[in-house]
Amino acid sequence: MDPTEKIRELESLVETISRGKYMWESTFDAITDPVMIVSRDYTIKRANLAAANAAKIDVRTLVGKRCFESLAGRSVPCRGCPLQVTLEERSAHSFTLDPFAKSGRQHLVNAYPFSAQAEGEVVLHYRDVTEEKELERQLVHSEKMAAIGMLAGGVAHEINNPLGGILAFAQLALRELGKAHPSFNDLKEIEESALRCKRIVEDLLDFSRQRRDDLKAAVSLNEVLQKIMPLIQMQAKASSIEVIEAFDPALGPICGNFHKLQQVFLNLITNAYQAMLGGGRLTLKTYADLKSDRVCADISDTGNGIPQEYLNKIFDPYFTTKKQGEGTGLGLSISYGIVQDHSGTIEVKSRQGKGTTFTVSFPAMT
Ligand SMILES: Nc1ncnc2c1ncn2[C@@H]1O[C@H](COP(=O)(O)OP(=O)(O)OP(=O)(O)O)[C@@H](O)[C@H]1O
Ligand SMILES: [Mg+2]
Repeated sequence: MDPTEKIRELESLVETISRGKYMWESTFDAITDPVMIVSRDYTIKRANLAAANAAKIDVRTLVGKRCFESLAGRSVPCRGCPLQVTLEERSAHSFTLDPFAKSGRQHLVNAYPFSAQAEGEVVLHYRDVTEEKELERQLVHSEKMAAIGMLAGGVAHEINNPLGGILAFAQLALRELGKAHPSFNDLKEIEESALRCKRIVEDLLDFSRQRRDDLKAAVSLNEVLQKIMPLIQMQAKASSIEVIEAFDPALGPICGNFHKLQQVFLNLITNAYQAMLGGGRLTLKTYADLKSDRVCADISDTGNGIPQEYLNKIFDPYFTTKKQGEGTGLGLSISYGIVQDHSGTIEVKSRQGKGTTFTVSFPAMT
């Protein structure tokens, strides 16, 4: 073959190859989800632009780094990472990872094995499922809320009738016997206790009526807490727990749904009780954070605390450390959804063996 022709042929071959390379790279970069090729020891061999954006570093510096360090901001591989199982079984696997430390975003990672030539490497494709998970949570929340509402409403309703009977007959007997009768004071005691029960039942009925009522208005966190105090006190007495109220009397209102907020605090307080089975101290504190213009409430207990490794799981639906039948693991996820719906935040600080504080904060109403 004529050398010039040979050169031309080679040039055209090089051009085809570089066009192909360019096409593949562009395809890789056009994908808006992070995609990476990662080896057995978690080293990134290749990454697309979206991966670099998610890791917030230049795509060239990403290569050679460990995926769990640069993307997830962790010092050890992500919990449930499907990389090793994909290599072992040579079949695709997926897993929803814990939120990344840097961005707080949650991802579903799909791992695909390579064919025999690139053994020891997998393709990882990450899909941001933060919003999806949030919606899922909200759905679970509303379902559980409806169920609790129906249950509480049903029980309260059933108790209301016999309670009405007790009250009516006690009052009748009081009138018939008169003050001079030796049983008068005992009957008076029965009447008062029945009235107290009636108020609690009314509170419960009130609480269960929230189901279809999502309306928000100006509410005071003090009032929300005060309204559930009778329920709290009752439980406290039964389980030798001291309750301390530290309500800021000058607390401003927030824009919220009274009953839903009650639900949040009931969940937090119930958890606090369950963490202090041998007795303890429950502190309910409200205050304004003037710097951020927010209204806050701290629910603190002196219970057994939450182990560090559980702290980022406790808001997950169905995460529970309680025995079957004692907890469904929905309380905090419901509360989280409600607080989010109020543009609020819910934070937790805990020390094992010392106690836990949940801080709920909402924008102050202007
Ligand atoms: N104040 C607390 N002290 C210690 N652990 C807590 C506290 N609050 C929550 N937890 C932990 O968080 C987990 C999840 O709480 P969550 O309220 O969502 O579910 P649950 O209480 O287990 O069940 P449910 O509320 O549905 O009855 C609990 O099982 C417990 O391990
Ligand atoms: Mg709970």
